[in-house]
Amino acid sequence: MKYNLYFICLLLTAFTLKTSERYNCFRPGEIWKDTDGKSIQAHGGGILYNNGVYYWYGENKDSPTHKQHVPVVGVSCYSSKDLYNWKYEGVVLPAVKTDTAHDLHPSKVLERPKVIYNEKTKKFVMWMHVDTRPGYKYARAGVAVSDNPRGPFQYLNSIRPNNAMSRDITLFKDTDGKAYIFHSSEDNKTIYISRLTDDYLQPDGHFKRLFIDQLREAPAVFKHNRHYFIITSGCTGWTSNAARYAIADSVLGEWRMIDNPCRGPKSEITFNTQGTFVFPVQGKKDAYIFMADRWNPQNLSDSRYIWLPLQIRGDSLAIQWLDKWDLSYFRK
Ligand code: GAL
Repeated sequence: MKYNLYFICLLLTAFTLKTSERYNCFRPGEIWKDTDGKSIQAHGGGILYNNGVYYWYGENKDSPTHKQHVPVVGVSCYSSKDLYNWKYEGVVLPAVKTDTAHDLHPSKVLERPKVIYNEKTKKFVMWMHVDTRPGYKYARAGVAVSDNPRGPFQYLNSIRPNNAMSRDITLFKDTDGKAYIFHSSEDNKTIYISRLTDDYLQPDGHFKRLFIDQLREAPAVFKHNRHYFIITSGCTGWTSNAARYAIADSVLGEWRMIDNPCRGPKSEITFNTQGTFVFPVQGKKDAYIFMADRWNPQNLSDSRYIWLPLQIRGDSLAIQWLDKWDLSYFRK
């Protein structure tokens, strides 16, 4: 009996090892498994690079309810050194099941979490979209902190930054240490850029209204040389639409809307995705990756990840569809 059990354990271990394949390239839109062989759950996500490790935070939608909305599970975290193979670090900000009034109760909405590090306070700060359903009427930005990138994060509160609604959100830390949240506001008609206090825990009162009445959302922001770029989507829920990018010389300055950066099949609907984040690849020059979600509203947990390299020439930006690619795409 003892030996039988031993053999079953051995077989199970061998099976698990076999199912967790190692990746050496990106295959946009295909199932992407973590190092335990489970599908990655980090939708609407973003990347933090800290001490030689990339951390990928996102919405965990692992739920038996395959509907347009799933109960809030929390924010997942994965870690990687090579960007292909991701180790599951767990749910670092879990839903609060015991308090129906809490922002993070499973009945609510938790979307698009992003994390940055604050050098002054030595805290990892997460901002996210929290909301109520149906209707997304609460429209607030939630904030949480941790001493460790692997969590656990402690939820602090939610606000309407500068008294304005806040739905789709991203977090951007500038090279001077100032940080900003970009959030869809005024019923998604206008994006706000709200600068944060030095501890990154609340708005400092400086803000700008961007793309007024243009109905943009899903902001992804990055800086290249002296230019700031933003990529946004239109507002059509889970259905994909055309991305647009804009450029500025300072975060709270003038932004020029340029064009759709996507090239290739389905470029008019962002390759059937919606953007969520752009991050620089460490140790490579001019190397940035665009992260997007191919939402599957019938089964949100099976929404796929599309990562593609950016091509930047001066102030022009292009994202070319690739079925398969790896980091050798970028020059050293
Ligand atoms: C999209 C938004 C997603 C999610 C979805 C719900 O517009 O970008 O994050 O909120 O709507 O319908």
